[in-house]
Amino acid sequence: MQLRQEARALQGKTIEFENRSLHIAGESSRAEFESGSEGIVHLATDERNGENFRIKCFWEPDDIRRRRSDYLVALQLADLNKSKADALGGAPFGMLPSLAPSMPFAVLMRNVGGESWRKLRTRAEADTQYPPSWWPPVSIRATWAYGLATAVMNMERREFVHADISPGNVVVNDGIHGTLGHMGKENSDDDAGDMALVDFDRYVHGRAEISELGKGTAGYAAKEVWTRKVPQIGTDRTSMAILIQEFIVLGDPEICKEEALDWTYNQESSTFDLKSSDVDSEDIRSVRAHPLLAAKYSTLARLVEDTICATNPDTRPAPQSWRGPLRDIVDPPTSAAPQKLRELTLEEITEESPPYRLAFKTGMKMLNLSETRFRIHASLKRDSDGSIYLAVHDGARLSIKIPGSTNTVEYGKGARVLVQAGLILVGQDGSMSTRLLGPR
Ligand SMILES: Nc1ncnc2c1ncn2[C@@H]1O[C@H](COP(=O)(O)OP(=O)(O)OP(=O)(O)O)[C@@H](O)[C@H]1O
Ligand SMILES: [Mg+2]
Repeated sequence: MQLRQEARALQGKTIEFENRSLHIAGESSRAEFESGSEGIVHLATDERNGENFRIKCFWEPDDIRRRRSDYLVALQLADLNKSKADALGGAPFGMLPSLAPSMPFAVLMRNVGGESWRKLRTRAEADTQYPPSWWPPVSIRATWAYGLATAVMNMERREFVHADISPGNVVVNDGIHGTLGHMGKENSDDDAGDMALVDFDRYVHGRAEISELGKGTAGYAAKEVWTRKVPQIGTDRTSMAILIQEFIVLGDPEICKEEALDWTYNQESSTFDLKSSDVDSEDIRSVRAHPLLAAKYSTLARLVEDTICATNPDTRPAPQSWRGPLRDIVDPPTSAAPQKLRELTLEEITEESPPYRLAFKTGMKMLNLSETRFRIHASLKRDSDGSIYLAVHDGARLSIKIPGSTNTVEYGKGARVLVQAGLILVGQDGSMSTRLLGPR
């Protein structure tokens, strides 16, 4: 109670720290800070440049917490030179001295633009429309997922375990929702897709003392956390997998709101429990990956299954293995478009050597193939960009084999066939079987 009162009294004040003047958001009449299970989090803006920060003070600011906070700050997880795309950018980087009697110290962090996934998810649940009109597309949600995998990868490289990756501790930016600092620095579309972890209070690293072991967050905790064992490298992989699955599934337009939201990770059975689609039924279906993920993103579904079925933390799929499939959702690989040709060789398909050949050179505008030895009832022509196509003559049919395919495709009168290397024109009605090749 005292901490809350003192925290309210701090609102609207400016504190000097190193070369920053941190103006704490709000005024003493109304609490504006975020209040969680471990402490209170203020928003503060540097009056010199408008940059936003967060100050966290704790309900129980004991000596162990102070030493753990000192140690965490010294690790320098956040990259202060990067204002964007720093997935560990919400880690504390400074220790503030006493701000009030019940705040013997506080930690200082960069403000991560956006909102916690918990808040954003709650907004989606409350919206009458599914997906809400403002809900970010899967490319943005996959960018968050990619950021989360990167965060876990970078922490593992430093042998650091966050140990409480959960919806309240992942801040995501959709370009719309988020904090407005004292000087009104707002989110913009450019920031959509950014994310970062916050709340490193449960971390495990090297010689740092271990905090009292909690059970983690229900629905997201790894088995060892849930059973109050010491978290280790690989612990973060479980919560990461569950959250990535949520990012991708929630908002998919091919399922309904209940299918997107009414499921949870069951800590006891290590499966996902889905409510039956029949509203009157109490039946629960247990699955190892959400059906939508299995149907649309099978590689990710496998990673989820392998994570929750693994017997040890270190045999859960590594964060690196998530990055490729997620990048493919952010930036779908374009199927290798056939290269357009501007010069062409036609070659008779025959056992005899040499086969009959004819070149269609860059300078040529048109060639009627029925007037050549090939006797094919089509003409080679050019598009406005110079690429070559085949125009099938009136009353004729052309049978074409596409490279890599065993089927032939029939083209009738007037058809335009874009020419690519390797096409085979199947001989019929007195025409030669012909292969189309690039310039020789
Ligand atoms: N660096 C930060 N940048 C932006 N938002 C932050 C930051 N740190 C904390 N927050 C916000 O404050 C909320 C509470 O912070 P935090 O998780 O550290 O407190 P907590 O007491 O551990 O709360 P909880 O019990 O909900 O986990 C977060 O969910 C997030 O919305
Ligand atoms: Mg938290």
